[in-house]
Amino acid sequence: MLIKRKYFRWNRLLLCLPVVILIFHMLSVSEFHQSSRSKEKPKKIDHLVLGPAAGEGLPDRLQCQGIRALNKTSSRMFQKNSDSVDHVSFVTVFTVYNSTVDSRPVDLVTVGNTSYNKVERSMAILNIFVNFIQVTMPQSNVIILTDPTAEIPLHRDMVTIQPIQGEYSRDKLMLQRIRSYIAFLETRLEKLTVMQEKVSHFIFTDSDIAVVHDLGRIFTDYPSFDLALTFRNNKEQPLNSGFIAVRGTAEGLQRGKAFLQEVLKIYSTKFMKASRMLGDQLALAWVVTSHPKFDIKRFSKREAFLDKIGGASVLFLPCSSYNWTPPEGAGQFHGMPLDVKVVHFKGSRKRLMLESWNYFLSSSDISDMLCLILKSGRTKYDF
Ligand SMILES: *[C@@H]1O[C@H](CO)[C@@H](O)[C@H](O)[C@H]1NC(C)=O
Ligand SMILES: *[C@@H]1O[C@H](CO)[C@@H](O)[C@H](O)[C@H]1NC(C)=O
Ligand SMILES: *[C@@H]1O[C@H](CO)[C@@H](O)[C@H](O)[C@H]1NC(C)=O
Repeated sequence: MLIKRKYFRWNRLLLCLPVVILIFHMLSVSEFHQSSRSKEKPKKIDHLVLGPAAGEGLPDRLQCQGIRALNKTSSRMFQKNSDSVDHVSFVTVFTVYNSTVDSRPVDLVTVGNTSYNKVERSMAILNIFVNFIQVTMPQSNVIILTDPTAEIPLHRDMVTIQPIQGEYSRDKLMLQRIRSYIAFLETRLEKLTVMQEKVSHFIFTDSDIAVVHDLGRIFTDYPSFDLALTFRNNKEQPLNSGFIAVRGTAEGLQRGKAFLQEVLKIYSTKFMKASRMLGDQLALAWVVTSHPKFDIKRFSKREAFLDKIGGASVLFLPCSSYNWTPPEGAGQFHGMPLDVKVVHFKGSRKRLMLESWNYFLSSSDISDMLCLILKSGRTKYDF
Protein backbone atom coordinates (compact mmCIF):
# COMPACT_ATOMS: atom_id res chain seq x y z
CA MET A 1 0.00 0.00 0.00
CA LEU A 2 2.76 2.36 1.09
CA ILE A 3 4.84 1.53 -1.95
CA LYS A 4 1.95 2.13 -4.20
CA ARG A 5 1.32 5.59 -2.77
CA LYS A 6 4.97 6.56 -3.17
CA TYR A 7 4.90 5.44 -6.73
CA PHE A 8 1.83 7.55 -7.29
CA ARG A 9 3.53 10.67 -5.90
CA TRP A 10 6.56 10.20 -8.06
CA ASN A 11 4.34 9.84 -10.99
CA ARG A 12 2.68 13.16 -10.21
CA LEU A 13 6.04 14.83 -9.82
CA LEU A 14 7.14 13.57 -13.18
CA LEU A 15 3.95 14.88 -14.69
CA CYS A 16 4.75 18.31 -13.24
CA LEU A 17 8.17 18.45 -14.82
CA PRO A 18 7.10 19.35 -18.34
CA VAL A 19 4.84 22.06 -16.87
CA VAL A 20 7.78 23.58 -15.02
CA ILE A 21 9.87 23.55 -18.17
CA LEU A 22 7.01 25.08 -20.12
CA ILE A 23 6.69 27.92 -17.60
CA PHE A 24 10.41 28.62 -17.77
CA HIS A 25 10.18 28.72 -21.49
CA MET A 26 7.20 31.05 -21.44
CA LEU A 27 9.03 33.34 -19.03
CA SER A 28 12.01 33.71 -21.27
CA VAL A 29 9.80 34.21 -24.29
CA SER A 30 7.72 36.89 -22.58
CA GLU A 31 10.85 38.62 -21.35
CA PHE A 32 12.07 38.68 -24.88
CA HIS A 33 8.81 40.12 -26.14
CA GLN A 34 8.92 42.83 -23.50
CA SER A 35 12.42 43.85 -24.36
CA SER A 36 11.70 43.93 -28.05
CA ARG A 37 8.50 45.90 -27.50
CA SER A 38 10.36 48.54 -25.48
CA LYS A 39 12.60 49.11 -28.50
CA GLU A 40 9.72 50.76 -30.40
CA LYS A 41 9.31 48.97 -33.74
CA PRO A 42 11.24 45.94 -35.00
CA LYS A 43 12.75 48.41 -37.46
CA LYS A 44 16.54 48.43 -37.69
CA ILE A 45 18.03 51.23 -35.69
CA ASP A 46 20.03 54.13 -37.12
CA HIS A 47 21.63 55.42 -33.94
CA LEU A 48 23.54 54.00 -31.00
CA VAL A 49 21.30 52.33 -28.39
CA LEU A 50 22.61 51.47 -24.94
CA GLY A 51 20.92 48.75 -22.90
CA PRO A 52 21.89 47.18 -19.57
CA ALA A 53 25.38 45.69 -19.25
CA ALA A 54 24.88 41.93 -18.98
CA GLY A 55 26.98 39.99 -16.49
CA GLU A 56 26.55 42.52 -13.68
CA GLY A 57 27.97 41.19 -10.40
CA LEU A 58 29.72 38.23 -12.02
CA PRO A 59 33.37 38.18 -10.90
CA ASP A 60 34.88 37.15 -14.24
CA ARG A 61 32.82 39.53 -16.37
CA LEU A 62 33.43 43.13 -17.34
CA GLN A 63 31.74 45.52 -14.91
CA CYS A 64 30.62 48.90 -16.18
CA GLN A 65 29.36 52.13 -14.69
CA GLY A 66 27.55 53.80 -17.55
CA ILE A 67 30.06 53.46 -20.36
CA ARG A 68 33.06 53.54 -18.05
CA ALA A 69 34.72 50.23 -17.32
CA LEU A 70 35.45 49.34 -13.68
CA ASN A 71 37.91 46.67 -14.80
CA LYS A 72 40.68 48.09 -16.93
CA THR A 73 42.77 46.14 -19.35
CA SER A 74 46.22 47.62 -18.97
CA SER A 75 47.00 50.17 -21.68
CA ARG A 76 50.68 49.43 -21.11
CA MET A 77 50.31 46.11 -22.90
CA PHE A 78 50.20 47.88 -26.25
CA GLN A 79 53.76 49.15 -26.10
CA LYS A 80 55.96 48.46 -29.07
CA ASN A 81 58.43 46.35 -27.10
CA SER A 82 57.38 43.04 -28.59
CA ASP A 83 60.86 41.89 -29.64
CA SER A 84 60.36 38.61 -27.86
CA VAL A 85 57.08 37.98 -29.66
CA ASP A 86 57.04 36.62 -33.21
CA HIS A 87 55.73 38.66 -36.11
CA VAL A 88 52.05 38.23 -36.90
CA SER A 89 50.19 39.24 -40.06
CA PHE A 90 46.44 39.46 -40.43
CA VAL A 91 44.94 38.13 -43.64
CA THR A 92 41.44 38.91 -44.87
CA VAL A 93 39.55 38.29 -48.09
CA PHE A 94 37.86 41.42 -49.34
CA THR A 95 36.30 42.50 -52.60
CA VAL A 96 34.13 45.28 -53.95
CA TYR A 97 31.18 44.43 -56.17
CA ASN A 98 30.35 46.29 -59.37
CA SER A 99 26.65 46.28 -58.50
CA THR A 100 27.26 48.03 -55.18
CA VAL A 101 29.42 50.67 -56.85
CA ASP A 102 26.24 51.88 -58.58
CA SER A 103 24.23 51.98 -55.35
CA ARG A 104 21.72 54.80 -55.15
CA PRO A 105 22.03 57.76 -52.75
CA VAL A 106 18.90 56.42 -50.98
CA ASP A 107 21.17 53.80 -49.42
CA LEU A 108 23.19 56.36 -47.48
CA VAL A 109 23.79 55.62 -43.81
CA THR A 110 25.09 58.25 -41.42
CA VAL A 111 27.40 57.47 -38.52
CA GLY A 112 28.76 60.39 -36.54
CA ASN A 113 29.24 63.24 -39.02
CA THR A 114 29.86 61.04 -42.03
CA SER A 115 27.44 59.54 -44.56
CA TYR A 116 28.35 56.31 -46.31
CA ASN A 117 27.04 54.56 -49.40
CA LYS A 118 27.40 50.80 -49.65
CA VAL A 119 30.96 50.73 -50.92
CA GLU A 120 32.03 53.42 -48.45
CA ARG A 121 30.50 51.38 -45.66
CA SER A 122 32.49 48.26 -46.44
CA MET A 123 35.62 50.41 -46.88
CA ALA A 124 34.95 51.99 -43.48
CA ILE A 125 34.74 48.53 -41.91
CA LEU A 126 38.01 47.52 -43.54
CA ASN A 127 39.72 50.73 -42.42
CA ILE A 128 38.56 50.33 -38.83
CA PHE A 129 39.65 46.69 -38.84
CA VAL A 130 43.14 47.98 -39.75
CA ASN A 131 42.92 50.84 -37.21
CA PHE A 132 42.33 48.49 -34.29
CA ILE A 133 45.26 46.29 -35.28
CA GLN A 134 47.43 49.40 -35.50
CA VAL A 135 46.46 50.27 -31.90
CA THR A 136 46.70 46.87 -30.25
CA MET A 137 49.34 45.13 -32.40
CA PRO A 138 51.37 47.98 -33.92
CA GLN A 139 54.07 45.60 -35.18
CA SER A 140 51.60 43.65 -37.30
CA ASN A 141 50.56 44.18 -40.88
CA VAL A 142 47.44 43.35 -42.85
CA ILE A 143 47.27 41.44 -46.12
CA ILE A 144 44.12 41.73 -48.21
CA LEU A 145 43.43 38.88 -50.61
CA THR A 146 41.22 40.00 -53.44
CA ASP A 147 39.90 39.53 -56.96
CA PRO A 148 42.53 40.74 -59.46
CA THR A 149 39.79 42.78 -61.19
CA ALA A 150 38.76 44.57 -58.00
CA GLU A 151 40.17 47.96 -57.18
CA ILE A 152 40.35 48.54 -53.49
CA PRO A 153 40.78 52.21 -52.61
CA LEU A 154 42.93 51.61 -49.56
CA HIS A 155 46.44 52.98 -49.26
CA ARG A 156 48.01 52.50 -45.90
CA ASP A 157 51.54 51.74 -44.75
CA MET A 158 50.75 48.53 -42.98
CA VAL A 159 48.46 47.10 -45.65
CA THR A 160 49.40 44.94 -48.66
CA ILE A 161 46.90 43.97 -51.31
CA GLN A 162 47.52 40.56 -52.84
CA PRO A 163 45.38 39.65 -55.86
CA ILE A 164 44.51 35.97 -56.14
CA GLN A 165 42.71 34.51 -59.17
CA GLY A 166 39.31 33.06 -58.42
CA GLU A 167 35.56 33.44 -58.51
CA TYR A 168 34.59 36.06 -55.97
CA SER A 169 30.88 36.33 -56.79
CA ARG A 170 28.69 36.75 -53.72
CA ASP A 171 27.24 33.26 -53.71
CA LYS A 172 30.65 31.63 -54.02
CA LEU A 173 32.58 33.93 -51.72
CA MET A 174 32.91 31.58 -48.75
CA LEU A 175 34.17 28.79 -51.00
CA GLN A 176 36.54 31.18 -52.74
CA ARG A 177 37.76 32.43 -49.41
CA ILE A 178 39.10 29.00 -48.47
CA ARG A 179 40.66 28.69 -51.93
CA SER A 180 42.33 32.08 -51.52
CA TYR A 181 43.63 31.11 -48.06
CA ILE A 182 45.14 27.95 -49.57
CA ALA A 183 46.71 29.83 -52.49
CA PHE A 184 48.09 32.39 -50.05
CA LEU A 185 49.66 29.69 -47.86
CA GLU A 186 51.29 28.25 -50.98
CA THR A 187 52.87 31.61 -51.83
CA ARG A 188 54.06 31.96 -48.24
CA LEU A 189 55.56 28.51 -48.20
CA GLU A 190 57.56 29.40 -51.26
CA LYS A 191 58.69 32.71 -49.78
CA LEU A 192 59.80 30.96 -46.64
CA THR A 193 61.59 27.97 -48.14
CA VAL A 194 62.83 29.27 -51.50
CA MET A 195 63.31 32.97 -50.83
CA GLN A 196 64.33 32.47 -47.18
CA GLU A 197 61.98 35.16 -45.86
CA LYS A 198 61.55 35.55 -42.11
CA VAL A 199 58.88 33.55 -40.32
CA SER A 200 55.59 35.38 -39.82
CA HIS A 201 52.49 33.82 -38.32
CA PHE A 202 49.11 34.40 -39.92
CA ILE A 203 45.66 35.07 -38.55
CA PHE A 204 42.93 34.78 -41.17
CA THR A 205 39.88 36.76 -40.12
CA ASP A 206 36.69 38.38 -41.27
CA SER A 207 37.16 42.13 -41.61
CA ASP A 208 34.23 43.02 -39.30
CA ILE A 209 36.27 42.35 -36.17
CA ALA A 210 38.10 44.54 -33.69
CA VAL A 211 41.32 43.11 -32.27
CA VAL A 212 41.27 44.57 -28.75
CA HIS A 213 44.25 42.72 -27.27
CA ASP A 214 47.61 41.43 -28.49
CA LEU A 215 47.02 38.06 -30.18
CA GLY A 216 50.70 37.31 -30.82
CA ARG A 217 50.81 35.59 -27.44
CA ILE A 218 48.93 32.51 -28.64
CA PHE A 219 51.92 31.48 -30.77
CA THR A 220 54.27 31.56 -27.77
CA ASP A 221 51.82 30.47 -25.07
CA TYR A 222 50.86 27.39 -27.09
CA PRO A 223 54.11 26.58 -28.89
CA SER A 224 53.06 23.29 -30.49
CA PHE A 225 49.97 24.04 -32.58
CA ASP A 226 49.98 24.29 -36.37
CA LEU A 227 46.54 25.81 -36.73
CA ALA A 228 44.07 27.45 -34.34
CA LEU A 229 40.27 27.65 -34.59
CA THR A 230 37.62 29.26 -32.39
CA PHE A 231 34.81 27.17 -30.90
CA ARG A 232 31.57 27.76 -29.06
CA ASN A 233 28.94 25.62 -27.44
CA ASN A 234 26.64 25.37 -30.45
CA LYS A 235 25.57 22.00 -31.79
CA GLU A 236 25.05 22.91 -35.45
CA GLN A 237 27.94 25.32 -35.84
CA PRO A 238 30.51 24.72 -33.10
CA LEU A 239 33.31 26.38 -35.10
CA ASN A 240 33.36 29.89 -36.45
CA SER A 241 35.27 30.39 -39.68
CA GLY A 242 35.96 34.06 -38.96
CA PHE A 243 39.22 33.36 -37.12
CA ILE A 244 41.86 30.84 -38.24
CA ALA A 245 45.46 31.16 -37.08
CA VAL A 246 48.31 29.36 -38.83
CA ARG A 247 51.85 29.05 -37.51
CA GLY A 248 54.29 30.52 -40.02
CA THR A 249 56.90 27.76 -39.91
CA ALA A 250 57.26 25.48 -42.94
CA GLU A 251 55.50 22.68 -41.03
CA GLY A 252 52.73 24.96 -39.82
CA LEU A 253 52.09 26.38 -43.30
CA GLN A 254 52.15 22.90 -44.82
CA ARG A 255 49.75 21.39 -42.30
CA GLY A 256 47.51 24.44 -42.25
CA LYS A 257 47.25 24.19 -46.01
CA ALA A 258 46.48 20.46 -45.93
CA PHE A 259 43.80 21.04 -43.30
CA LEU A 260 42.13 23.77 -45.37
CA GLN A 261 42.31 21.56 -48.46
CA GLU A 262 40.38 18.93 -46.54
CA VAL A 263 37.79 21.55 -45.49
CA LEU A 264 37.51 22.68 -49.12
CA LYS A 265 36.98 19.11 -50.29
CA ILE A 266 34.20 18.52 -47.73
CA TYR A 267 32.63 21.87 -48.57
CA SER A 268 32.52 21.09 -52.30
CA THR A 269 31.24 17.54 -51.87
CA LYS A 270 28.80 17.85 -48.96
CA PHE A 271 27.76 21.43 -48.33
CA MET A 272 27.41 23.18 -51.68
CA LYS A 273 23.68 23.46 -51.09
CA ALA A 274 24.09 25.17 -47.72
CA SER A 275 23.29 28.84 -47.53
CA ARG A 276 26.16 30.85 -48.96
CA MET A 277 27.24 32.01 -45.53
CA LEU A 278 27.31 28.64 -43.78
CA GLY A 279 29.02 26.07 -46.00
CA ASP A 280 32.52 26.73 -44.74
CA GLN A 281 31.52 26.49 -41.09
CA LEU A 282 29.63 23.26 -41.64
CA ALA A 283 32.61 21.82 -43.51
CA LEU A 284 34.99 22.97 -40.77
CA ALA A 285 32.84 21.31 -38.11
CA TRP A 286 32.55 18.15 -40.20
CA VAL A 287 36.31 17.81 -40.64
CA VAL A 288 36.90 18.24 -36.90
CA THR A 289 34.01 16.33 -35.33
CA SER A 290 34.07 13.37 -37.71
CA HIS A 291 37.56 12.65 -36.49
CA PRO A 292 37.12 9.38 -34.57
CA LYS A 293 38.94 10.36 -31.37
CA PHE A 294 37.52 13.85 -31.12
CA ASP A 295 35.56 14.56 -27.92
CA ILE A 296 32.80 17.00 -28.82
CA LYS A 297 32.00 17.62 -25.15
CA ARG A 298 35.07 19.83 -24.94
CA PHE A 299 33.15 22.51 -26.83
CA SER A 300 30.89 23.00 -23.82
CA LYS A 301 33.70 24.35 -21.61
CA ARG A 302 35.26 27.73 -22.22
CA GLU A 303 38.81 26.39 -22.13
CA ALA A 304 41.44 26.25 -24.84
CA PHE A 305 42.60 22.74 -25.79
CA LEU A 306 44.84 21.01 -28.30
CA ASP A 307 43.97 18.04 -30.46
CA LYS A 308 45.39 16.22 -33.43
CA ILE A 309 43.14 16.40 -36.51
CA GLY A 310 44.53 14.56 -39.51
CA GLY A 311 48.22 15.47 -39.56
CA ALA A 312 47.78 18.84 -37.87
CA SER A 313 48.00 19.85 -34.26
CA VAL A 314 44.94 22.08 -33.82
CA LEU A 315 44.49 24.58 -31.01
CA PHE A 316 40.85 25.21 -30.11
CA LEU A 317 40.30 28.63 -28.59
CA PRO A 318 37.00 29.69 -26.99
CA CYS A 319 34.97 32.17 -29.05
CA SER A 320 34.08 33.88 -25.76
CA SER A 321 37.61 35.36 -25.67
CA TYR A 322 38.94 35.09 -29.22
CA ASN A 323 35.82 35.74 -31.28
CA TRP A 324 33.37 37.40 -28.96
CA THR A 325 29.95 38.40 -30.14
CA PRO A 326 26.80 38.82 -28.02
CA PRO A 327 24.26 36.01 -28.51
CA GLU A 328 21.51 36.65 -31.04
CA GLY A 329 17.83 37.10 -30.17
CA ALA A 330 16.70 35.67 -26.85
CA GLY A 331 19.85 33.62 -26.25
CA GLN A 332 21.22 33.69 -22.71
CA PHE A 333 23.67 36.49 -22.20
CA HIS A 334 26.13 36.46 -19.33
CA GLY A 335 28.14 39.48 -20.32
CA MET A 336 31.68 39.93 -21.58
CA PRO A 337 34.64 37.96 -20.21
CA LEU A 338 37.45 40.11 -18.84
CA ASP A 339 39.98 38.50 -21.17
CA VAL A 340 38.17 39.27 -24.45
CA LYS A 341 40.67 39.68 -27.28
CA VAL A 342 38.56 39.88 -30.42
CA VAL A 343 35.10 41.41 -30.85
CA HIS A 344 33.20 40.22 -33.91
CA PHE A 345 30.59 42.65 -35.23
CA LYS A 346 28.55 39.94 -36.94
CA GLY A 347 25.34 40.58 -38.84
CA SER A 348 23.61 43.92 -38.23
CA ARG A 349 26.27 45.26 -35.91
CA LYS A 350 28.50 47.07 -38.40
CA ARG A 351 27.25 50.47 -37.22
CA LEU A 352 28.41 49.53 -33.74
CA MET A 353 31.89 48.83 -35.11
CA LEU A 354 32.09 52.40 -36.45
CA GLU A 355 30.53 53.90 -33.32
CA SER A 356 33.01 51.94 -31.17
CA TRP A 357 35.97 53.26 -33.10
CA ASN A 358 34.65 56.81 -32.84
CA TYR A 359 34.17 56.35 -29.11
CA PHE A 360 37.68 54.96 -28.76
CA LEU A 361 39.05 58.00 -30.60
CA SER A 362 37.43 60.30 -28.05
CA SER A 363 38.11 58.20 -24.92
CA SER A 364 41.42 56.48 -25.84
CA ASP A 365 40.33 53.67 -23.56
CA ILE A 366 39.71 50.17 -24.92
CA SER A 367 37.98 49.02 -21.72
CA ASP A 368 35.48 51.87 -21.79
CA MET A 369 34.82 51.07 -25.42
CA LEU A 370 34.15 47.45 -24.44
CA CYS A 371 31.43 48.71 -22.09
CA LEU A 372 29.85 50.56 -24.99
CA ILE A 373 29.91 47.34 -27.02
CA LEU A 374 28.60 45.24 -24.14
CA LYS A 375 25.65 47.57 -23.63
CA SER A 376 24.85 47.87 -27.28
CA GLY A 377 25.83 44.56 -28.85
CA ARG A 378 22.36 43.03 -29.01
CA THR A 379 20.77 45.87 -30.93
CA LYS A 380 20.11 45.24 -34.59
CA TYR A 381 21.36 48.20 -36.55
CA ASP A 382 20.74 49.50 -40.03
CA PHE A 383 24.10 48.24 -41.21
C1 LIG B 1 36.14 44.11 -11.74
O1 LIG B 1 35.60 45.27 -11.15
C2 LIG B 1 34.67 45.03 -10.10
C3 LIG B 1 34.08 46.37 -9.67
O2 LIG B 1 35.09 47.29 -9.36
C4 LIG B 1 35.38 44.30 -8.95
O3 LIG B 1 34.46 44.03 -7.92
C5 LIG B 1 35.98 43.01 -9.48
O4 LIG B 1 36.70 42.35 -8.46
C6 LIG B 1 36.87 43.28 -10.68
N1 LIG B 1 37.30 42.01 -11.22
C7 LIG B 1 38.58 41.68 -11.36
C8 LIG B 1 38.87 40.30 -11.86
O5 LIG B 1 39.48 42.44 -11.06
C1 LIG C 1 33.54 44.75 -62.82
O1 LIG C 1 33.49 45.55 -63.98
C2 LIG C 1 34.71 45.53 -64.76
C3 LIG C 1 34.58 46.55 -65.88
O2 LIG C 1 33.25 46.80 -66.21
C4 LIG C 1 34.94 44.11 -65.25
O3 LIG C 1 36.13 44.07 -66.02
C5 LIG C 1 35.08 43.19 -64.07
O4 LIG C 1 35.22 41.86 -64.48
C6 LIG C 1 33.85 43.29 -63.15
N1 LIG C 1 34.13 42.57 -61.93
C7 LIG C 1 33.28 41.68 -61.42
C8 LIG C 1 33.71 41.02 -60.16
O5 LIG C 1 32.18 41.45 -61.89
C1 LIG D 1 30.67 66.41 -35.61
O1 LIG D 1 29.78 67.49 -35.56
C2 LIG D 1 29.67 68.11 -34.30
C3 LIG D 1 28.57 69.14 -34.36
O2 LIG D 1 28.55 69.80 -35.59
C4 LIG D 1 31.01 68.69 -33.92
O3 LIG D 1 30.96 69.30 -32.63
C5 LIG D 1 32.05 67.59 -33.90
O4 LIG D 1 33.32 68.10 -33.63
C6 LIG D 1 32.06 66.84 -35.21
N1 LIG D 1 32.90 65.68 -35.07
C7 LIG D 1 33.82 65.35 -35.96
C8 LIG D 1 34.58 64.10 -35.68
O5 LIG D 1 34.03 66.00 -36.97
